[in-house]
Parts: sequence; C-alpha cells; structure tokens
Amino acid sequence: MGGRENIEIIESEIITNGDDNVVPVASEEFVFTPHISMLTERAAAYLNVGYSVHFAGPAGTGKTTLAFHLAASRERPVILIHGDDEFGSSDLVGRDSGYRKSKLIDNYIHSVVRTEEEMRSLWVDNRLTTACREGYTLIYDEFTRSRAEANNVLLSILEEKILNLPSMRRTGEGYLEVHPDFRAIFTSNPEEYAGVHKTQDALMDRLITINVDHYDRETEVQITMSKSGIPRSDAETIVDIIRELRLVGVNNHRPTIRACIAIGKVIAHLGARAQENDPTFDWVCQDVLNTDTVKVTRSGQSLMPEKIKEIVKRVCRKNKAERNAKIRPVTLD
Ligand SMILES: Nc1ncnc2c1ncn2[C@@H]1O[C@H](COP(=O)(O)OP(=O)(O)O)[C@@H](O)[C@H]1O
Ligand SMILES: [Mg+2]
Repeated sequence: MGGRENIEIIESEIITNGDDNVVPVASEEFVFTPHISMLTERAAAYLNVGYSVHFAGPAGTGKTTLAFHLAASRERPVILIHGDDEFGSSDLVGRDSGYRKSKLIDNYIHSVVRTEEEMRSLWVDNRLTTACREGYTLIYDEFTRSRAEANNVLLSILEEKILNLPSMRRTGEGYLEVHPDFRAIFTSNPEEYAGVHKTQDALMDRLITINVDHYDRETEVQITMSKSGIPRSDAETIVDIIRELRLVGVNNHRPTIRACIAIGKVIAHLGARAQENDPTFDWVCQDVLNTDTVKVTRSGQSLMPEKIKEIVKRVCRKNKAERNAKIRPVTLD
C-alpha cells in the first residue's frame, strides 16, 4: 500500500488560526475533580517521558475533552485529526474511491476529479508533516474508526521517530525526523473496535493506553452543573436518574453524561426544576432518555417510558427526602 492511500483516508478536521494549527486554552467550563486530576496527571507523566497516550473507553466518558485539556496543558500548537468511520474497515477502500470518482465524474471533467483528490491528500499530509516537523501535539480522535492500514504511517512516527513521506511528495527527502516535542494523544471507543485489526494492535503497542469509564457521581454532577448552569440539587437528581438507567438492560454505558447535560440545559432554559411534580422535567426526561437508552420490550412494546417514569419518580423522592434530612438538624439547632 502506497503512502498516498495511507494518508488520504485519514479524514480530518482542523481548528485553524491561519497557520493550520491552534493553541488551545483551558476552558473555564472544564471540571476538575480528584478523579480527573488523577487521569490527567498520569497522562501528562507519560507525555513528559516521551510517550504518546491513548484514552480508551465507551462514548461519553470524557475522552475527547481530556485529550484537549491535556493538549492545552502542553502549551504547544495542536493538530486535530478525526478517525473516519466511512473508511473503518479495509474493504471500503475500493468502494470509497469508486464512490468519490463516480460522483464527481457525473458532474465534472476527469481532470477536476484528480485535482480534487490531490488537494485533499496534500492537505492532510501537510498537517501531519507540520506536527512532526514543528513538534506540535497531535490529537487523533477516534483513531480506530480509520482503517488499520490508514494508521500505518503513525507506526514509524511513534517508534523510530521518523515520518516516511508519502510517495506523492516529489520534492525533498523521503523521510523527516520527528521533532522531540511531538506527541500524539489518541482516543478510541473499544465498542467500535470490532474484529481483529493487526495493524491497529501494532499501533496500540506503541502507546500507553489509559482506560476510562463513566466518571464518578460527583464528577458527573459537577460537569452537569458546569455545562447547564442548573443548581446542584437538580444536577444530583438528573445524574442519579441516569446512573440508575445504566443498570437497566445489557448496555450499561448508556445513557451517558451527554444526556445529563442535555436535560440540564433544557430545564435551565425553560425555568423548570428536576423535581417530582414538574411536568416539563417529566417530558424532557422521556424525550432525552427514551432514545438514548437500551430498548427493553415486552410483547414488542417498549418498557422504557414506564421504566423512566418510575425511576424519575423514585429518585426525585429519595433525593428530596435526603435533602430534608440534611436540613432538619440544622433547623432544629
Ligand atoms: N472534565 C470535564 N469538564 C467539563 N465537561 C466535560 C468534562 N469531561 C467531559 N465533559 C463533557 O461531557 C460530554 C462528553 O465528553 P466527551 O469528551 O465528548 O466524551 P467522549 O469523547 O468520551 O465521547 C461533553 O459534552 C463534554 O463537554
Ligand atoms: Mg469523543
């Protein structure tokens, strides 16, 4: 497989400041709890020693956010690449180029097709090359979505600290020595990592993987508050509902923190409260959670609306009782 194909199918997106890179600044919304500090400390230690790191875990476990935060802490420009699921399995290579060409040939003359493809590969090449040459931080988000072969180019970058320049590049030498400050931060979701991809494993071998799972309750509460602006008591209720729902059915990764944030944002916007007799809260929970939760059915009928209703009611009551119990000794004093 030539270098050109290798790079071409890494679909990418870049936040640019005109120089094709960005120096991220830590967000005020970023929540720091002991759990998150521990994760970032570990990852930062590996990066400082010279390794690249990899956050692996289910969707909504904060991997991308952590990668950005970590990259920001290095205070160096960042290059971002997103793994592309369209090119996720090796049999899609042929289909991809066929698809793209036939689509374009219908509308344009052949030379336009070539130019378009060339530009796209050069564009990606430039960014990887820039990151390696200048010692920038590369964030490769969801890297296992790209075909394993697509990621080959990274093996020598990580191991030998050499970037083999693709054959399409006609000027200059055939390789580039990677700058000592270059680091890569990868994320992946093992749920999507179906089948055995030898090359992907070779890449994994050269990374230090930190497995992440859903955050602890306190972290989820703080993230929900930070992202939606709702009071702590409401955030606690929403997070407890989501955590209960994760125990329903077989996929206990859903719903994710994203559902907590979505419910929080909507009730904040509508002036509703996460309380038992708030009708707005009831329908927002139904809408957000019904789609995001594993389907449990009885005689073909979804049991989720009932289940959600029951859990919302139970958690609202429990949290209210706990709050009252906490308040009472203070008022008695
Ligand atoms: N430490 C944090 N502080 C604030 N918000 C966070 C934090 N970690 C995750 N989030 C929020 O939680 C949601 C899911 O995080 P994300 O990084 O996208 O997860 P993943 O990449 O694992 O799917 C996002 O809306 C993100 O902004
Ligand atoms: Mg992500």
